[in-house]
Amino acid sequence: ADEPLILGIETSCDETGVGIVRGHTLLADALASSVEEHARFGGVVPEVASRAHLEAIVPTMQRALTEAGVTLADIDAIAVTSGPGLAGALLVGVAAAKGYALAAEKPVYGVNHLAAHVAVDTLEHGPLPEPAIALLVSGGHSSLLLVDDLARGVTPLGATIDDAAGEAFDKVARLLGLPFPGGPPIDREARAGDAASIAFPRGLTAAKDLAAHRYDFSFSGLKTAVARWVEARQRAGEPVPVADVAASFQEAVCDVLTSKALAACRAQGIETLVIGGGVAANSRLRALAEQRAEKYGIRVRVPRPKLCTDNGAMVAALGSHLVAAGVAPSRLDLPADSALPL
Ligand code: KG4
Ligand code: ZN
Repeated sequence: ADEPLILGIETSCDETGVGIVRGHTLLADALASSVEEHARFGGVVPEVASRAHLEAIVPTMQRALTEAGVTLADIDAIAVTSGPGLAGALLVGVAAAKGYALAAEKPVYGVNHLAAHVAVDTLEHGPLPEPAIALLVSGGHSSLLLVDDLARGVTPLGATIDDAAGEAFDKVARLLGLPFPGGPPIDREARAGDAASIAFPRGLTAAKDLAAHRYDFSFSGLKTAVARWVEARQRAGEPVPVADVAASFQEAVCDVLTSKALAACRAQGIETLVIGGGVAANSRLRALAEQRAEKYGIRVRVPRPKLCTDNGAMVAALGSHLVAAGVAPSRLDLPADSALPL
């Protein structure tokens, strides 16, 4: 018999995503983004995001069904991000999922956005060996997770104590006069820069910090250090070497992320590191993780960039995993929870 056909809905931030999978096979991944509406504010505006989801959800749903060549009646279950994320944005996806589920008499699975960022890798690399360590780095979160049973949940090992990694990219880009979101332009600029030219701080890696924050991250000190460095240049009337600042900043972030993630793997004897979230699209992070992991015989799995940023396929991928594991669906009074724990 065919594996179940699962549809996933994602609306936790600024991307309206609907994905359709069968088993580990991706059949459709429709996306509508409100990122350009937020660009002039330099960050995601919750009210603007909610309205954009409301306008985009039905057309995006229809595009996904057409792309997969199926109808709603063919779908076996609907998965939806129920948190964490922006409350008003989540409500649109959860309400839509319930409406479609009621109309078509399908079960609904409320899923965790972070667990979905981990699950999406199965669409590219097949079943995830467990236990694995997951590094999730995006505009809203930076977490290190122990994945011992993805169907039942994942265990947080550490998280950012201030800014998320993507947030640091966005703020530093702004300082350098680069557009929002800042990750892609910094990644691009950094290629022409010297990553060793400026020694920016590596947050929470000093021995005294490691004792209390072994797997936690801190990026706000780094952001401030970049701001001070740029201001000093400007005060002196000297040009800001954008490529060198971008490369040195990026190196500091990637150094901390990869060293802590690999330390977690080694401490627990785990051979698989999966990286996800928007920042996982960063070319230096991917290269450095692979280069360092090789020494320890650790395998790094990073999905292609389009699957790293928010999308509906990741939600469908986790839904598919839950259905295969025999997990019971959610009730139709499923709430949206902006602070949903793992
Ligand atoms: O996962 P995502 O699409 O949305 C959230 O859940 O936040 O992540 C968006 C974040 C933004 O901060 C963006 O600047 C960052 O991912 N990002 C990158 C790159 N592409 C996107 N950061 C570094 N390098 C990139 N190439
Ligand atoms: Zn995300």
